[in-house]
Amino acid sequence: SAELRELLLAHIRDVPDYPEPGVMFKDITPLLADAAAFGALVDALAALCTRHGATKVVGLEARGFILAAPAAARAGLGFVPVRKAGKLPGDTHGQAYQLEYGTAEIEVHTDAFAAEDRVLVIDDVLATGGTAEASLELVRRTGATLAGVAVLMELSFLGGRERLLPALGDTPLDALVVI
Ligand code: PRP
Ligand code: MG
Repeated sequence: SAELRELLLAHIRDVPDYPEPGVMFKDITPLLADAAAFGALVDALAALCTRHGATKVVGLEARGFILAAPAAARAGLGFVPVRKAGKLPGDTHGQAYQLEYGTAEIEVHTDAFAAEDRVLVIDDVLATGGTAEASLELVRRTGATLAGVAVLMELSFLGGRERLLPALGDTPLDALVVI
């Protein structure tokens, strides 16, 4: 709703020239620190889990964890971490993705899902879409079904939505705030 959007936006802080000159960083720490705004955010993400019929919720390390774990618990669902390479102890699928400078890799446990699971992927920000795209490839390789992707904030000028389209197909991409 417009009301929720305004509440969330009011608690996202613009930090100019971070992490480098010319970049306007969207800082969500004021939102996390505000009980009403954080509660409304978690409620909205939990509602998306229910609406899309998710049976498991994935959070993308690190900032995605902060949103996905409480949303999963609120929706009555289990939480699955997608972690930066080398952090998960069991057998993993790994997927490399492009950063502005260099590459990174994320992983998920191969046995994180049952075959019948429907997975909602949650992160804080969709920017270029590289992180989310890699996570969708990981979910695909586990054999589970993708229920959707949900982010707090979509930076639409960076084209992440278009980049995710092939991997998404008909599955929804919800952004609570679009910038
Ligand atoms: C940030 C953000 C998203 C991602 C979005 O994570 O939390 O996960 O970048 O960018 P993209 O759409 O261009 O991939 P970052 O890798 O900075 O790390 P963090 O979550 O561990 O802070
Ligand atoms: Mg992140």
